[in-house]
Order: sequence, then C-alpha cells, then structure tokens
Amino acid sequence: MKKRVLLLLLPLAVFGANLNPDMQKYMDNLAVQAKKDNPNFTKFDYKRGEEIFTSTHIGKRGKPISCTSCHTTDLKQKGKNINTGKTISPLSPLANPKSMVKVKNVKKWLKRNFKDVYNRVGTAQEKGDVVVYIINKK
Ligand code: HEC
Repeated sequence: MKKRVLLLLLPLAVFGANLNPDMQKYMDNLAVQAKKDNPNFTKFDYKRGEEIFTSTHIGKRGKPISCTSCHTTDLKQKGKNINTGKTISPLSPLANPKSMVKVKNVKKWLKRNFKDVYNRVGTAQEKGDVVVYIINKK
C-alpha cells in the first residue's frame, strides 16, 4: 500500500514547465516504468537529460553523432537534419508552441532519434530525463 502511494505521488513534483494532460500522463507512465526498472529512481533530472542530449556517441550509421548534431545546442533555434539537409523546427516549446505537445510525435521521434544517436531505444528514465531537459532549457 505504502509503495503504491509513493509511486503515484512521485511524478507530480517532477516537471518545471507546464505540460498538457496527455504529456503529463506520458511522463507519469515513464516515471512508473523508471521506478520499476530501478528502485533507486526518485525523479527525472535536467542535468542527466542535458548529458543525454549533448554527449556524442557512435550512432546507427557507425559515426559520432549527438542530439545536438541535428537540433543544435540552442533549442530555441531551428535545427537541420544532417542526413537529409531539411530544416527542423525548434524543439523548445518556448520558441515553438507545437513542440512537445503531441505524445504520438514525441514517442515516435524519441524512438527514432535514440536509435540514430545511441543505436538502441532509450530507457524510460533516459526519455523522461531528456524531455525534462528539452521543456525546461532556456
Ligand atoms: C539525424 C537528425 C536528428 C538527430 C540526431 C536527433 N533528432 Fe530529434 N528530430 C529530428 C527530426 C527531423 C524531428 C522532427 C522535426 C519536425 O517534425 O519538425 C525530430 C523531432 C524530435 C522530437 C519531437 C518533438 C515534437 O514534439 O514533435 C524530440 C522529442 C526529439 N527530436 C528529441 C531528440 C533527442 C532526445 C535526440 C538525441 C537522442 C534527437 N532528437 C536527435 C532529427 C533528429
């Protein structure tokens, strides 16, 4: 009983920026999964998210790549897809109100982009951390 109450309370204190109810639910689900994967998990973390977003890895194509390769380090600016050359609208909801609002898009791109950069899917904790970073980065 005690454990269940903890799990339900846990995610509510986590996010700085406003999230719509669907995104909030998505993040709550990620937090529950992260806690299942790792009992020591307490909350998503901006700093860990920053590391995930800015660090370089050998990606799917066998070359060094990071999230910033396409999205740049200034999330309020437009990015550029290094594979296709196409412009990417800003990731930050501060600059782009259409970003980080549709769970379907967020899920789809996190799956695809983790594979691009990490050559695997992200864990629940990694996804939550990086979302917290993206929505709070000034
Ligand atoms: C090879 C280029 C590329 C890389 C590398 C990349 N992304 Fe993306 N990302 C995109 C493109 C393209 C979109 C779709 C943009 C659009 O719809 O305007 C996107 C969209 C997203 C979205 C969806 C935003 C929304 O609300 O629709 C998220 C979240 C995201 N990326 C996070 C990441 C993270 C985290 C990483 C690193 C693990 C990363 N991206 C690395 C190209 C990239």
